[in-house]
Amino acid sequence: MYHQTARVLEHVPLAARTFRVRLECPDLAAAIRPGQFVMLRLPNTTDPLLGRPFALYDTVLDNGRPVAIDVVYLVVGKMTGRLREVAAGEALQVWGPLGKPFLDVGTPERVALVAGGIGQTPFLAYARELLGTRGFGGDAPRARTNRVALYYGVRSADLAAGVDDFRAAGVEVHMASDDGSIGTKGYVTQLLESHGRTEPLVGCGPEPMLHALAKLAAKWGAACQVSLETPMACGVGICFSCVAKVKTPDGDDYKRVCIDGPCFDAAKLVWE
Ligand SMILES: Cc1cc2nc3c(=O)[nH]c(=O)nc-3n(C[C@H](O)[C@H](O)[C@H](O)COP(=O)(O)OP(=O)(O)OC[C@H]3O[C@@H](n4cnc5c(N)ncnc54)[C@H](O)[C@@H]3O)c2cc1C
Ligand code: FES
Repeated sequence: MYHQTARVLEHVPLAARTFRVRLECPDLAAAIRPGQFVMLRLPNTTDPLLGRPFALYDTVLDNGRPVAIDVVYLVVGKMTGRLREVAAGEALQVWGPLGKPFLDVGTPERVALVAGGIGQTPFLAYARELLGTRGFGGDAPRARTNRVALYYGVRSADLAAGVDDFRAAGVEVHMASDDGSIGTKGYVTQLLESHGRTEPLVGCGPEPMLHALAKLAAKWGAACQVSLETPMACGVGICFSCVAKVKTPDGDDYKRVCIDGPCFDAAKLVWE
């Protein structure tokens, strides 16, 4: 794991209350894999004291070598509210890679990525990895599939962030919104269901959406993994603030999302 103070190379708005911050951290960028996350902390302050977890959105290459990472975040509270004030040229504390990469999906014909809210953030790097257009963690690029579809649900069009990035990466994008201002009106899981059975499914977003996705996967008998965004304090397995309930052969148990996840087989989670 790398822990460093990283220079902010760029900090730009992507959508309503949503920003992309680019951090210069070559060693971390070379090591991190899609599905893993980093902790970010504002330097020179104890408020907030703890770092906050953010998914890898993308790696940035210079002459083919990873030199920086992109993180995309939605402003929801204290840390993200202050993060948006950090300008290019200033610095952030960053540590990672944390957690495990996405679970292996084999070599399917098509992969459906299902995102709700800010849950699209782990999927851009993952789409590049699946399509074999970029290698991560020191691996050479290797295609696992020819088709990646993003099903992306937002409350309204102004919150849709990074859609052009996905299209430019060769991803088929299917949008849904609560108010019908972009894509189909309704939940993203309804849009997915209307297109018919597909697998594997990979989900990230609010828990009710992930639960609906897990139920659809069970109905279809489809492989489904979900990336959980449970609030975290330490990010490295010490505090047990991030546990998720899972089924095991010996009964229900708890797993730490920060080190055992954040990606889990949806069929093994206990949805409450
Ligand atoms: C593995 C992982 C990856 C993540 N990746 C991203 C990402 O790429 N982009 C992004 O915008 N966010 C991501 N998150 C969520 C992000 O960590 C939180 O939004 C952030 O910690 C909020 O910090 P804050 O200080 O601004 O909010 P706080 O002041 O701590 O909280 C503000 C409000 O948001 C609620 N809240 C805080 N954290 C969460 C959460 N994780 N889930 C639901 N409600 C929460 C609080 O209960 C409170 O109501 C990720 C979380 C995890 C665990
Ligand atoms: S965040 Fe501390 S154990 Fe997971």
